[in-house]
Amino acid sequence: MSDNQETSDAEEDITPAGSATLPLRPPCDRLPCHKSSVCSRSYFVVVMVFFHVYIINVILLLFYVHYNSGQEDANRSRDAPSSNHQRPESRRPPSKPEFLRDVSLTRVEGIRVGHVQKVSLVPGKVHEMRTLSMKPLLFEIPGFLSEDECRVVMQLAQLKGLIESQLMVQDGQEELAKELNLSPEEIFNLLDINQDGQLQLHEILTHSRVRDGIWLTPENLREIYAGLKADKDGNGLLSLEEFRLLSNDAFQRFLLQRGVKRSQLVRNSRHTWLYQGKGAHQALQDIKTKVTRLTRLPPALVDLSEPLQVVRYEEGGHYHAHHDSGPVYPETACTHTRLAANTSTPFETSCRYITVLFYLNSVEGGGETAFPVADNRTYDEVSLIQNDVDLLDTRRNCDKSNLRVKPTKGTAVFWYNYLSDGRGWVGEQDEYALHGGCVVTHGTKWVANKWINIDPDYQRQARYQQLVSQQSEDEDDEGLTLNPDIQSSNIHQDL
Ligand code: OGA
Ligand code: CA
Ligand code: FE2
Repeated sequence: MSDNQETSDAEEDITPAGSATLPLRPPCDRLPCHKSSVCSRSYFVVVMVFFHVYIINVILLLFYVHYNSGQEDANRSRDAPSSNHQRPESRRPPSKPEFLRDVSLTRVEGIRVGHVQKVSLVPGKVHEMRTLSMKPLLFEIPGFLSEDECRVVMQLAQLKGLIESQLMVQDGQEELAKELNLSPEEIFNLLDINQDGQLQLHEILTHSRVRDGIWLTPENLREIYAGLKADKDGNGLLSLEEFRLLSNDAFQRFLLQRGVKRSQLVRNSRHTWLYQGKGAHQALQDIKTKVTRLTRLPPALVDLSEPLQVVRYEEGGHYHAHHDSGPVYPETACTHTRLAANTSTPFETSCRYITVLFYLNSVEGGGETAFPVADNRTYDEVSLIQNDVDLLDTRRNCDKSNLRVKPTKGTAVFWYNYLSDGRGWVGEQDEYALHGGCVVTHGTKWVANKWINIDPDYQRQARYQQLVSQQSEDEDDEGLTLNPDIQSSNIHQDL
């Protein structure tokens, strides 16, 4: 390639030189013969010069490559004598090794909605796994848990004791707001998501849900506007002038005065965590093994994930639509790998690549798991909350969800909360993985969640796993056995 280029460059270069000799050119009749001998000589000289330059370049390049790889080998043997997948970059200090991407995550193929594939989870038994949706990639496996396993998990959870999944008041928010000392204009600007200079109902609703965990309906909000005389022109929108007339915590104080019922929270359930490592009840260890086989992920990833979360909804319980996992931003760290993160980050989120949800009982009425936008052609966040239809509201609008799974004892559903990055690792959050628990109209509902934690940042995940395995070796040396669940005992977080 470069050879040809250089040759053609040489031909171009020769033309001006030839033109310079024009005045000395003989008459036209002798031109062909004479020109050919002059041209061929200079042509030969120029080609030879370029040929030599080319050869010298190639030799220099070979020297350069040889020298550099030699240095890298030296670094490798000096910094990482005991590990074969460490490749420290010469730019970085040895304390922060770069890991080769030598692990590729298997993703179960959905093929198409309704496709059934056989899976082998326990010896001598075959389960059927049905594809429920492609966006998100979602499967259902009837009979994943045996009757006994369902019973044991519920009994162990009872024995351990369940706690309220959501506290009535979200702490820390008020201090944060005071600390920032924002002006009404600044707050208005933050809330005005579409930046049209008006606060639409859904802009206020989204805010109160995230900030206070209080699930207001559009009617609630209109009541509040009326109570506070906030919407003077009655158009259902708040202008900056209308907003300015409200005191800082007007909404919160109004709500507190009126009292907030459990049914007005984002989540109305109780839960507990069951560790699944060495020493745990055999049923819990068996479930973990089955999850590893189902997801076809490296066992270490499943071992290092959060414990099993057991959830109980009473009659009237619900969980409005949400994501189990956070979006991927460069400044966001995952809760499970923060131990190994060298830097502190302002945002931390649960990174749950997969959710495996188990139904521990068959619910008498309601309690379906709803996926409001599953297999939608497009995802449009704004249209999730239209004036009076809020697709995120699982107390009212589960019937409008694209997909609902009926809770049946022993059935497991599992889905990917992230897309693939196309290179065998975790990519962007899958917005279609939005889901919630519909209101339980009769009886109680018991479910369990097994979340598989993987950091979308490969390096952070690898560093975390190396750290944990080092700790495990150290503790083994001291005659202690490490229970990986204990490692993650304080990392699980409710979103
Ligand atoms: C959850 C959840 C759905 C359900 O616990 O995160 O989404 O059907 N549960 O209970
Ligand atoms: Ca607006
Ligand atoms: Fe969930």
